[in-house]
Amino acid sequence: MKITVIGAGNVGATCANVMAQKELASELVLLDIKEGFAEGKALDIMQTASLLGFNTRVIGVTNDYSKTAGSDVVVVTSGIPRKPGMTREELIGTNAGIVKDVAANILKFSPNAIIVVISNPMDTMTYLTLKATGLPKNKVIGMGGILDSARFDTYLSLALGVPSSEVQGTVIGGHGDTTMIPLTRFATYNGIPASTLLSADELNKVVSDTMVGGATLTKLLGTSAWYAPGAAGAALVESIVRDEKKVFPCCVSLDGEYGQKDICIGVPVVIGKNGCEKIIDMKLNSDEQAAFNKSADAVRSMNGVLKELNIL
Ligand code: APR
Repeated sequence: MKITVIGAGNVGATCANVMAQKELASELVLLDIKEGFAEGKALDIMQTASLLGFNTRVIGVTNDYSKTAGSDVVVVTSGIPRKPGMTREELIGTNAGIVKDVAANILKFSPNAIIVVISNPMDTMTYLTLKATGLPKNKVIGMGGILDSARFDTYLSLALGVPSSEVQGTVIGGHGDTTMIPLTRFATYNGIPASTLLSADELNKVVSDTMVGGATLTKLLGTSAWYAPGAAGAALVESIVRDEKKVFPCCVSLDGEYGQKDICIGVPVVIGKNGCEKIIDMKLNSDEQAAFNKSADAVRSMNGVLKELNIL
């Protein structure tokens, strides 16, 4: 297996570090446009190999896509996080330009790769990658729902006073503070509905903490998070390269599922060696479906900016 990570910043380097430690590939390429940056991060990760006991070869390159050739999976983290005072359109414009260019290079050197999108706004960047590459829809997957669900698990476990590994929370919809939908009806502690163990107020607080999970960290750190996004990206790649068939909420192209078309948005899917192998219908109730439709409207309007800016 060969894996490439585009963008060696906070998220990309963390994701590469986790994947190297898990030995998900024999060769892992880290690429960045900043001269020497990916080379430095790659060397630093490689120098933990004897300490942590892994054999993945990590290579850093400055914008040299020939070194990424023949990758099985490519993770896209290149782009900028939103800065104070920046409009949504400006963020889309900047990151869309970067992601479109990156996608063309990936396709040129690794035409068979599965692409995992992490760059924000993630739903729109996934849609752009799918359209710009023309790849089949199983091969372009956005990571956001895995991260949002991990945050849901964290707040559920804190409220319940049980280990995070014992709770199961699913977040669908867009990957944004107001577009994500933590599904309380499906949240469980080892099969026991969380709603039977927590009061409505407690459960509402879990949901609101989850929805501002990213923003809370941005406020504390002055920039967006990286440990959980990096680990979430690595979990997605692991299910692909080990053909684990894990069910994760991921941003994928819908063609009538959940009543939506021509959009990439978070729904539960089976992830295996072919990428997104199946979309699972959770049989949403009418309130959940209404929230999903509203979320899809918001994501669609973000996608519309790509056309306004002549990027698609
Ligand atoms: N090609 C390759 N790398 C690029 C390009 C490009 N065209 N443009 C920018 N980069 C690199 C930058 O040089 C930087 O090293 O992408 C990296 C981004 O890293 P950070 O600034 O540390 O941002 P990070 O926190 O990692 O977030 C990256 O993931 O979670 C999302 O919202 C986040 O969109 C953002 C992305």
